[in-house]
Formats: sequence, structure tokens, C-alpha cells
Amino acid sequence: MRSTQLRSHAEVSSISALLETGRAVTRPVLEAVVAGLDPRIGQVCAYHQGWADADGTPAVADGGKMLRATLALWSGRAGGAPVADAVAAAAAVELVHAFSLVHDDVMDADLERRHRPTTWAVYGLPLAVLAGDALLTAALSTVAAAPGGQGATGLRRLAADVQRLIAGQRADLAFENREQVSVAESLAMMSQKTGALLGSACALGAELGGSPPALVSALAWCGEQLGIVFQIVDDILGIWGDPAVTGKPVYADLVARKKSYPVVLALAAAGPAAGELRRRYGRPPDRSDGSAATELAGLVEAAGGLTGARSAIDLRLAEVSRTMSALDISDSSRKEFTQLAGYVAHRHR
Ligand code: IPE
Ligand code: IPE
Ligand code: MG
Ligand code: MG
Repeated sequence: MRSTQLRSHAEVSSISALLETGRAVTRPVLEAVVAGLDPRIGQVCAYHQGWADADGTPAVADGGKMLRATLALWSGRAGGAPVADAVAAAAAVELVHAFSLVHDDVMDADLERRHRPTTWAVYGLPLAVLAGDALLTAALSTVAAAPGGQGATGLRRLAADVQRLIAGQRADLAFENREQVSVAESLAMMSQKTGALLGSACALGAELGGSPPALVSALAWCGEQLGIVFQIVDDILGIWGDPAVTGKPVYADLVARKKSYPVVLALAAAGPAAGELRRRYGRPPDRSDGSAATELAGLVEAAGGLTGARSAIDLRLAEVSRTMSALDISDSSRKEFTQLAGYVAHRHR
């Protein structure tokens, strides 16, 4: 993204500190979970998390941003939850996320994530499917076992949000074979595939700590909107991002004819670029033509897909900020959320 909104050094470093804490606090729980799995499945999961090479040798590789864990810890602080409950929430949402990525790369036939070959590309489909199953099951057990007595309530929320994530993934795949997808359909799909889990992340820490249901629901709503922002940024990075930074292939969404958000906006636009995009997107990709995807990216931008996507991000962030300002949480929690939301919107990976 070229419009690098400049942020102060203090702001950037405190976001780094939040994410680093999220990683440091959550990792031991994730490691304990993975250690309890079937050893071969555990090896696959350790690779996915960046703790090991493909052969099981310990490694320090990109294990992801840990955003969901960080949001769950924030949620616990915002709701005054005991640390152990917030940590259970953080581990659970990060495990769901891990499951969803391992399976998503199979569905999207993607070969690179977190700067390394995807899990299924390394171990094959059967082990990737089983590793994802193991991660999801472990997530549900982790939340159910939360120490504060709210495990069953948290489990209901997380399980319902996983069902929504699955529905969103189904819709995302179905859209590949459709010529047009409306903006409303795209937003509904993103709120399921990505918003649901960020909703759980922002609510679960507080919920496991016994916060009032009205606060928990409001936090879930804010998280879901942040998830839509997150996905729009992911879609932008999938076209205009730098693969050396994102660790994921660029243009894969365009080649797969995904109806990512900038593409949805561009396909629905008026004018010659949109018309040309509709013609080309309706045809199967010509994988021998190296410049075809670059040209599609140019058409999406010329038809207003990038500008429109950025406006949608700004609009949602403003709505979330309005809702947050009315919630009964501390000013420092509000400030931290604003920093995290800014990071989500302006990240490059
Ligand atoms: C990628 O999520 C999947 C989406 C929901 C778009 P992240 O970008 O948070 O992935 P990691 O965990 O940081 O690798
Ligand atoms: C992310 O899907 C959502 C889930 C994994 C549930 P995408 O396919 O849009 O994300 P990336 O770009 O592969 O990470
Ligand atoms: Mg994908
Ligand atoms: Mg996908």
C-alpha cells in the first residue's frame, strides 16, 4: 500500500509491544496444546506455527502476527477478567485461526504463507486436514476448560463463530464461480469468514471473565467490524502488497477469480476500465501470460476498486470508534483498541 499513513514512533512501538506480549503470553499455552497431540500431527502444527522446520528441527520462523490472541488479551483487560481467563481466550482464538489457515490454504490451493511453503504443500492433504481438525478441537477444549467458570458460555460463542467462519469460507469459494457479487453479499461474506473470529477475539476475554452480556455483545460487534476492515486490507495486500513483506503470493486472488472486495467494487463500477475488467474476469486465467494479472490489478485500480476499498475501511473504523467511545471500559482500554485498529487498517503484512 503506497499511502503509508505515518504514525509516531511511540505509537508503532507500543503496538509492537502489545503484539509481542500477545505472542509471549499465548505461546506457552499453544505449545502445551500441541505437545498433547499425536506426535506426527504435533509436528505438522509446530511447522505451521513457525516453531519447527519441516523435519521437526526447532526453528524461529514467522508464526503470524498473533493479532487474535492480542485482541483477546485486550478484551480480558477491558472487561477486568482474571489473566488466566484472558489467556485461555487468547489461546482458543489463535488455535481456531491456525485451523482456519491450514484448511484455507488447501481450499485456495495456495503454496506460500508466512514466508514458507504452506502446510499442505509440505505434508500433503491428509496430514493438513488432520492437523486443522486437531487445532480446532483443541481450541474448543481450551475455551471449555477456562478456569473462571464461564467456559460453557464461551464455548457456545466460539462454536457459533466457527460455524459462521465456515459459512463465510463456503460463500467466498462460491463467489469464484459467479460473474457478479453485490457489495452487500461481499460484506456479509467477510463478516462471516473473518469478522466472526475477530468478534470472538474481542469478546471472549471479557466473557470468560464474567463481564455483563451487553458489554460482551458490543465488544463482539466492534470485533466483527474490525474483522471486515482486516479482510479488506488483506484483499488490498493480495493485489498491491509486497510478497516479501506479506509472506503470501501476490495476485493469487486475481488468478483464482476471487471476488475480493476491491474486485467486487471494480466489477460493479461504470466506465471503460470496469467494462474491460468484467470481460477479462469472466474468462478463465491464462497462466502462460505473466502480465495478465498485473493488467487486471491495473484495471481494478482504474475502476476505483482501491479507492473504494480504502473508503470502506475509513467508514467502518469511524463507526467502531463511535461505538467504543460509548462503552463502559477504561480510557486506556479504548486507547489500546484505537492503536490496534489503526494497526489492522494500516499494516503491510
Ligand atoms: C490471514 O490472517 C487470514 C485472514 C483472515 C485474512 P492473518 O493475516 O492474521 O495471518 P497471520 O496469523 O498473521 O499469519
Ligand atoms: C481468510 O481467507 C479467512 C480464513 C482463513 C477463514 P483468505 O483466503 O482471504 O486469506 P489469506 O489471504 O489466504 O490469508
Ligand atoms: Mg486464502
Ligand atoms: Mg480463502
